[in-house]
Amino acid sequence: MDIQLETHDLTTKIERIGDHSHVRGLGLNSDLEPRPNADGLVGQLNARRAVGVIQKMVQNGQLAGRGVLLAGPPGSGKTALAMGLAKSLGEHVPFVSISGSEIFSIGMSKTEALTQALRRAIGVRIKEETELIEGEVVELIIERPAQATSTAKVGKLTIKTTDMETIYDLGQKMIDALTKEKVQSGDVIQIDKASGKVTKLGRSHTRMHDYEVMPPGISIVNCPDGELQQRKEVVHRVSLHEIDVINSRTQGFLALFTGDTGEIQSEIRDQINVKISQWKEEGKAEVIPGVLFIDEVHMLDIECFSFLNRAMETDMAPIVLMASNRGITTIRGTKHSSPHGIPLDLLDRLLIIATSAYTYDEVKQIITTRCLEESVDIDDVASGILAKIGTETSLRYALHLITAADCVRQRRKGPSIDQEDIRKVYTLFVDKERSTKYIEEQKGAYLFHEG
Ligand SMILES: Nc1ncnc2c1ncn2[C@@H]1O[C@H](COP(=O)(O)OP(=O)(O)O)[C@@H](O)[C@H]1O
Ligand SMILES: [Mg+2]
Repeated sequence: MDIQLETHDLTTKIERIGDHSHVRGLGLNSDLEPRPNADGLVGQLNARRAVGVIQKMVQNGQLAGRGVLLAGPPGSGKTALAMGLAKSLGEHVPFVSISGSEIFSIGMSKTEALTQALRRAIGVRIKEETELIEGEVVELIIERPAQATSTAKVGKLTIKTTDMETIYDLGQKMIDALTKEKVQSGDVIQIDKASGKVTKLGRSHTRMHDYEVMPPGISIVNCPDGELQQRKEVVHRVSLHEIDVINSRTQGFLALFTGDTGEIQSEIRDQINVKISQWKEEGKAEVIPGVLFIDEVHMLDIECFSFLNRAMETDMAPIVLMASNRGITTIRGTKHSSPHGIPLDLLDRLLIIATSAYTYDEVKQIITTRCLEESVDIDDVASGILAKIGTETSLRYALHLITAADCVRQRRKGPSIDQEDIRKVYTLFVDKERSTKYIEEQKGAYLFHEG
């Protein structure tokens, strides 16, 4: 089978101010020792040290097919730590993040959804030799067709290096590619001979006039020297899942844009695995096991767990990082209980990292970090009160009050959030304890109250 590869950049990520946008890494020094407050992370030193070891193991490719569990109470930074790991792994190590419940809401079987997630977390680096034409455009002539009946254009491209100059006849496809890139004489361009892809490298230095103003994003380059035609090694970075989708006949690679990939036949995956192993042996491809993060992992059921157990044993498996805030609870799909709702056989193969609740000082620092991230000013008394709320109710509740309190501050046009703003939002929005108490008091008025 011939495996297709596409080089389109399909992984543009959108960043916004989310719950964890202040987390920029794990905040470790070069000895993997955590600094008390760095990269947006505060405290939780033991867990950060442990995640740092995981990071090293991932980067050395030592942990493929293993599992790690972050276990701790809600709001103790499990998801934040996973995000910190994602940031510190660098852009070339795949990190895929899903939530346990997602598996059930996609229009495909649970195991197919898990398989796709696992394969998205495995990167493949493929080296390919291509022939390129690289030079400065001397002249580009595009002729209108002579007879009105024919619509195909023809043209000529004169292109040079400092050592040679050649004229190429152009067909319709090349003309379209050159027009799309708005190529004109004086541009230094690169043409991939196999795919016909045209890339503009910049404007030639020799063609620049003093009065020319360069549009942003266009650089000035030298006219290349040597041969016009060159062999170059290009590197494709894709995930196994992307290769699956591109090669699945029913979908085509457009499905990657819509995300509507449907189920992929297992024969296709088998063929791709064989091909990749072969390329690996020939030194053409390198497999980079990344990380699949499954948050709220207790939402998986017994079938998912047993599937994962098997999948982690195959030779192309990523590291599976899980997080759970459950104690001993029933495993979904069974009547049995186990720690974190994870079957014991799977639990047995996991490295477990415990996270614990934060102290008052740590909560205060996290609040300060979040205020900075949201560009919100808060005075010291107010952040102290918020920290107290954070330790006594929940960290998340306290963090959510920041935005609300800032709205109140804006309305009174104050310079920074003060004690009074916090008091206001604290009475406007109840935390879970007060909400529960309220329900108990008002139980007669609710439907289905179980007491
Ligand atoms: N050590 C920490 N340093 C900075 N921010 C943190 C830290 N721990 C948690 N947070 C922030 O507190 C909030 C709750 O933490 P989260 O990671 O969602 O908890 P969990 O996943 O354990 O329930 C998030 O906004 C998170 O980014
Ligand atoms: Mg979480």
